[in-house]
Amino acid sequence: MDQETIDIVAFDERHLDGAVLLSREAGWPHRREDWAMLLALSHGFVALRGGHVAGTAMLTPFGDGCATINMVIVAASTRGRGLGRKLMDAALRACGERECRLTATADGLPLYEKLGFSATHEIRQHQGVPTPLPMDAATDAAELDWVGSESFPAVAALDLQALGMDRRPLLRLLAESGRMAMLREAGRVVGYAALRQFGRGEVIGPVIANTVEQAQSLLSFLIASRPGAFLRVDTAEGEKLSPWLSAHGLAGVGGGIAMRRNATSRQPAGPAKPFALASQALG
Ligand SMILES: CC(C)(COP(=O)(O)OP(=O)(O)OC[C@H]1O[C@@H](n2cnc3c(N)ncnc32)[C@H](O)[C@@H]1OP(=O)(O)O)[C@@H](O)C(=O)NCCC(=O)NCCS
Repeated sequence: MDQETIDIVAFDERHLDGAVLLSREAGWPHRREDWAMLLALSHGFVALRGGHVAGTAMLTPFGDGCATINMVIVAASTRGRGLGRKLMDAALRACGERECRLTATADGLPLYEKLGFSATHEIRQHQGVPTPLPMDAATDAAELDWVGSESFPAVAALDLQALGMDRRPLLRLLAESGRMAMLREAGRVVGYAALRQFGRGEVIGPVIANTVEQAQSLLSFLIASRPGAFLRVDTAEGEKLSPWLSAHGLAGVGGGIAMRRNATSRQPAGPAKPFALASQALG
């Protein structure tokens, strides 16, 4: 590769259009708005070749303890020449001592293993237009409702308990750009789920709950609110949730491998756990 013509620089708004072309070429559904949301939360890096975006990587910090690396893409014509590793090196420098998490594709896995990441679990991607669900099928005995500003602190506290990392900036963006539903028991928030525009349609995630039944109630509530919409759910609890998602018209269409490096962050503190990711990029 001609090193003279490739520079790695900080990702800013001017690179968004080039990044969209790159992700489209890789077969990813991200719109400009999806890239912009990630950039707002992240330190981004682009490889510029002759002024064009030939590669990207982002480091999204969640407090001092944890971060995710995402949007690692190299233009097909430039692969296999060390650019992916250089972009990863830039992202890992920005990561510092934090624990680093990512969702690997088959393409990315060998590179991440070489950089010290270990596989932890499988992520399954489901999508489609769900079979219609009546709103009352989603209510059970427990209390489901939309999240308002007064409930946001309880939702953020639950998320911290379930993930062991501080995702408040992400949750604020999700609340601004979409809708959040919550599940209460005896007045306490025990689960929540978010819905937002993404790619070809909309994404439901995160879904945080204590049990798969609670997760299904939250999913049903959001599905019933969007009849006819193309929806996507990425789950780390495929064994429990995949059959239910498939039965409701959200077919399994692949997924990725969750990986970690420098596992140092706080362990989740409570019974709540993630049943769906905000996205494969953000965990
Ligand atoms: C993953 C991707 C970014 C790698 O970019 P790249 O520029 O081709 O990577 P590099 O040339 O820097 O290779 C990185 C290392 O991985 C190794 N590697 C790459 N592909 C490999 C493969 N299929 N099998 C084994 N090793 C592989 C290389 O040998 C290299 O190792 P080295 O640095 O020790 O020599 C690129 O393939 C891509 O954009 N894929 C499509 C999008 C994608 O799936 N991104 C990953 C998201 S998680």
